Amino acid sequence: MSTPFETRRPAEVMPIYRDPLAPHGPGTVHVLDQRRLPFEEVWIACDTMQAVWTTIREMAIRGAPAIGVAAAYGLALGARAIPASNSGPEFVAAFDRLCDEMAEARPTAVNLFWAIARMRQAARDAAQSGADARVSILDDEAEAIRAEDLAMNHAIGAHGAALVPRFGDRPTRILTHCNTGSLATAGWGTALGVIRSAHAQAAVEVFADETRPYLQGARLTAWELLRDGIDVTLIPDSAAGHLMAQGLIDMAIVGADRIAENGDTANKIGTYTVAVLCARHGIPFYVAAPSSTIDLATRDGSQIPIEERPAKEVLEVFGTKIAPPVKVRNPSFDVTPGELVTAIITERGVARPPYRDSLAAMFPTRGSAAR
Ligand code: MRU
Repeated sequence: MSTPFETRRPAEVMPIYRDPLAPHGPGTVHVLDQRRLPFEEVWIACDTMQAVWTTIREMAIRGAPAIGVAAAYGLALGARAIPASNSGPEFVAAFDRLCDEMAEARPTAVNLFWAIARMRQAARDAAQSGADARVSILDDEAEAIRAEDLAMNHAIGAHGAALVPRFGDRPTRILTHCNTGSLATAGWGTALGVIRSAHAQAAVEVFADETRPYLQGARLTAWELLRDGIDVTLIPDSAAGHLMAQGLIDMAIVGADRIAENGDTANKIGTYTVAVLCARHGIPFYVAAPSSTIDLATRDGSQIPIEERPAKEVLEVFGTKIAPPVKVRNPSFDVTPGELVTAIITERGVARPPYRDSLAAMFPTRGSAAR
């Protein structure tokens, strides 16, 4: 008997696309509503920048690199609404206002601001062109951002797979947190991309933290791995320490929303706990992220803004109340100090501590907080 969750090998999921064959160019942006996964696959069609903004703000699309791609697609849509008569500086000023608006969507993932900066520059390059030409330049830039992210994830996967220990007679047991797969990126994934690349070479067994309160691990990571036919065991976040103490975890790997100059890493709430547990148990703790997540202009984790999300996400599960109406704290991210990170895997290779030196050497043209 078939169930909605039977294991099969369909085409890779993607969180967002534009139809390149649409009659007037790639106008409509289609966003997979991740709030409804894994139970329903519903697409939201966005014809305005504000509609894309709402999908980011309300977490229909989430995951740092995917947010960057969505912002770029959204801004390309926004450019279409700027009157053709606005040219040169007028066009740049109007586009800058859209960028400022887009920057309010979510605060922590630096990929959002990185993608906006790329689109701002493209708008300046396009400012003297006619209305159709400048839209097409911005469409191309957004498409480049998407394609580059996919390529970076495959490179991260290859570098990371080489770090995965092998045990001959049994699979490597890998713990991960949140969702860092195709759904969180332009495809393949960062930490989940490393897991996918490692799985292509030898058996892996994944322990997925459910990732309270938004349940990205339970709803999204478990779903992606099941679709891929990769062995996945879902665990409550609070079970990670117990499994480590039992000797059942060989390594942990997570993604990132922003990595500061010194390697301090903001990622989904609960990541810091995993890193501390790994240190306690002598388990390697890796961070996998593309260069668009690395923010060398931020000196350390204390400067990273941490999003606080609504109390409702903690007080309810799928609309059912699970607690009395008490005060709630719901920080969506935490910061793992760089000293707890065994290595940072990027598309350019593997950075090791001290990260101030290794990241600066890996990305020599990027701005530094210290300079
Ligand atoms: O709140 P979310 O779901 O956007 O948070 C996502 C994460 O924290 C991911 O681990 C991070 O963005 C990396 S995704 C490749």
